Amino acid sequence: MPFPKEIDKNSLPEHIAIIMDGNGRWAKKNNRARVFGHKNGVKSVREVTEGAAELGIKYLTLYAFSTENWNRPKAEVTALMQLLVTTIAKETKTLNKNNIRLQAIGDIKHLPKSCNQELEKAIETTSKNTGLTLILALSYSSKWEILNGINQLLNDVKSNKAEFEVVDESIFKSYLCTKDYPDPELLIRTSGEFRISNFLLWQLAYSELYFTEKLWPEFKKEDLIEAIANYQKRERRFGKTSEQL
Ligand code: IPE
Ligand code: IPE
Ligand code: MG
Repeated sequence: MPFPKEIDKNSLPEHIAIIMDGNGRWAKKNNRARVFGHKNGVKSVREVTEGAAELGIKYLTLYAFSTENWNRPKAEVTALMQLLVTTIAKETKTLNKNNIRLQAIGDIKHLPKSCNQELEKAIETTSKNTGLTLILALSYSSKWEILNGINQLLNDVKSNKAEFEVVDESIFKSYLCTKDYPDPELLIRTSGEFRISNFLLWQLAYSELYFTEKLWPEFKKEDLIEAIANYQKRERRFGKTSEQL
């Protein structure tokens, strides 16, 4: 893909996070079962990941399954987990070909064993890649991540592994599962919902939010480009005045 003229190569967001929403509604619109929507959602994952890598984005975090999604009908949860296993197994080669490093955040231990194994394998196999880092949020919720971090910190203090007078931002961050990544500059949510749904509450503190009516299976490379172009038109002030920038 030639570099799109709509966007400026020199002010790309380093990290984009996406709440991939609307698979179920897309399936319904097409008179199909929800799982069909999830399968087509995988096509968008492929497109957008490839697009982000081609553009030179460094980190892409995809919200694939939330803590709350465990409460969906059992058959849907099972189908999603199966889809996850087959997709990861099938895509590892392409990830390597495109120099993409796979990572995961969330309560991964909670996933079925087969998922966990496939995931670990793909993370290991792609670990030396130096292009895009693709981070899958699986069994993830921000409240889980924050509490998990605080409990680990408490354990470290109790077992004398760490000693703190006060906990500052950088210490707190070091206990999050996102500790190795910069905060996303841009958050995209598809399907016309205007909420965060327990995603990256700490990390999104100063992100630019972009909402689109498109359902996730409809979201393609050009939509990613449109979101980045929109982001690039914004003035990020971080509390200062325009004149100070
Ligand atoms: C997003 O699509 C995928 C997951 C949450 C796993 P949904 O399944 O939430 O689709 P809608 O929101 O019901 O349309
Ligand atoms: C958010 O979508 C979670 C993922 C995209 C994985 P949901 O469809 O679960 O969110 P709500 O329930 O509409 O907030
Ligand atoms: Mg949804």
